[in-house]
Amino acid sequence: MEERLIDEVKKKKEFSGLPDSVVMRALEESGDDVKEARALLRKYFGVFLTNRVLKGKGGLLDVHISSKKRDYNKFYSEIFEGIRDVGSVVDLGCGANGFSYEYLPKGVDYMGVEAAGQLVDKMNGFFGNKDLSARAIHADLFDVDSVVGILKKAKKDRVVFMFQVVDALESVERNFSLKLIGEIMKNCEALVISVPLVSLGGGKKFAVKRKWLMDFLEENYKVEKDFEMFGERVLIIQK
Ligand SMILES: C[S@@+](CC[C@H](N)C(=O)[O-])C[C@H]1O[C@@H](n2cnc3c(N)ncnc32)[C@H](O)[C@@H]1O
Repeated sequence: MEERLIDEVKKKKEFSGLPDSVVMRALEESGDDVKEARALLRKYFGVFLTNRVLKGKGGLLDVHISSKKRDYNKFYSEIFEGIRDVGSVVDLGCGANGFSYEYLPKGVDYMGVEAAGQLVDKMNGFFGNKDLSARAIHADLFDVDSVVGILKKAKKDRVVFMFQVVDALESVERNFSLKLIGEIMKNCEALVISVPLVSLGGGKKFAVKRKWLMDFLEENYKVEKDFEMFGERVLIIQK
C-alpha cells in the first residue's frame, strides 16, 4: 500500500529522483493524500528542483538558488584559510555544489550527499568525465546512520559542509539539525555551517533568529571562525 502511494507521488518528474524515505515522510504528514504530499514536497524542494536545475546542462552553480551568488574562489579561500589539513570534504545537502570541486584544496576527496537524485546523477557525470576524486551520494540526511557511515569511511582530516541546509531540516523536524550536528562532530575534524542572511525570497535579515543554533554551538564546541560573505553567515566549528 505505502509503496504504491510512494510510486504515485514519484510519477511527477520533479519528485522521481527523491529517496523513498523523503516521499514517505511527506505522505505521513499529509495523511496519505498524494496531492497534499506533492504540495508539501513542492514547498520543501520546489526552489531547488526548478526546470532550469533539472534540465540544465553542464555546470549548475549559476542556476541553483544557493550557489549562484558565490564566488567560490573567495568563498573557499576564506573557509580553508584556517583549516590546515584536509583529506576529504563531505558536503551534506550539497545541491549543485559538487560542480565547485576545482576550487577546493588540491587533491581532496569530495563526497556530496543530496536527496535530489537528478542533481546526484548530473554531478556524478561531471566527476566521471573529469576523472575527479569525487562522488555524489543519493541519501536522505534524516537517515543519520547513513550519514555517519559516510563520515566514518571518509579520509582524514574530514571537513563537513552544511551550507544552507539547517532551515530545510528544521522545517521538517524541530531541533533535528542539533541532533545531526552532534553525530557529525563525533565523526569529523571540522564542520562548516552556513545560513542565509536574507530569506530565499530576499528581504529581511534572518541572522538574529539563529540564537538557538549559536548558543548550541558555543556551548558544545569551539567556533573558530564566524564571517559573512555573499549573503550568508559562515561558521567554522571544531571540537
Ligand atoms: C538551500 S539548498 C543548499 C544547497 C548547497 N548546500 C548550497 O549551499 O549550495 C538545500 C539542499 O538540501 C537538499 N536537501 C534538503 N533536505 C534534504 C534531505 N533530507 N536529505 C538530503 N538532502 C536534502 C535539497 O535538495 C537542496 O539541494
